[in-house]
Amino acid sequence: MVVTEHHDVKIAVIGGSGLYNLEGLELVEEVNPETPWGFPSDKIIISKLPSGTKIAFLPRHGRGHYLTPTEVPVRANIAALKHLGVEAILAFSAVGSLREEIPPCDFVLPDQLIDRTRGLREATYFGNGVVAHAGFADPFHAGIAELVYAHKDILDFGAKLHNKKTAVCMEGPAFSTRAESHMYRSWGADIINMSALPESKLAREAEIAYQMVCMSTDYDCWRVEEEAVTVETVMQNMVNNGANAKKLLMAVLPALDKAVRENTLKPDLKGSMKFSGMTAKE
Ligand code: ADE
Repeated sequence: MVVTEHHDVKIAVIGGSGLYNLEGLELVEEVNPETPWGFPSDKIIISKLPSGTKIAFLPRHGRGHYLTPTEVPVRANIAALKHLGVEAILAFSAVGSLREEIPPCDFVLPDQLIDRTRGLREATYFGNGVVAHAGFADPFHAGIAELVYAHKDILDFGAKLHNKKTAVCMEGPAFSTRAESHMYRSWGADIINMSALPESKLAREAEIAYQMVCMSTDYDCWRVEEEAVTVETVMQNMVNNGANAKKLLMAVLPALDKAVRENTLKPDLKGSMKFSGMTAKE
């Protein structure tokens, strides 16, 4: 089925490693729309906040985590959310920390991004005769970040929420070498993951306000005292992070809903692609 119905869901949550569902909300329906770029990672769950506002939830790696970061059908994911009516995305992601002051289980709102993917991911909706260049100087959404940061004191387990940090997105699925990890630190990066791209870029092309909420699972291997990153370390911290992500979401979603409904989210990305020099083949 190609999506044609408009579900009027304005907010979506993309779940990363450790966040595979949104418990405690009233289920409305599950949809699995086929887009021109194929099916999304998994069924999209639409549920309702107590206020009645609908929220879409999509687990990036599929329920059961069966897609590597390289395999995630990102164009289909963003297109499916856009077709539902989504205007704002809160995207959760597990990250490694490149800074002493960001221990495992802290949360981070990045405002900058360095691309270290290797060209294996379909990263644009443009091409084949349709040319446009989305502005991407600020890859995340400052207005959403501010709303989330206002709830910084809500996290359990002594976790801190850090704002305005720089993320690196690497290809994976293997973690970095120590030399690479040191190099990213020397570039000024604070956290590293495998999911920020092309998700943030495609959301920008789709004029959707997008903010990543990063959950630190490990110190990446730059730290001398640290054993090289293992899947075991990452998995242990993910359980705490999942609980904190849900707590944060329940506090942030009503505020985000109000901002989206009242059209006060700044910058407003609706219509932004009009200024991107679009041309189409005659
Ligand atoms: N995701 C979680 N930890 C990571 C790390 N150390 N490097 C890249 N992606 C990660």
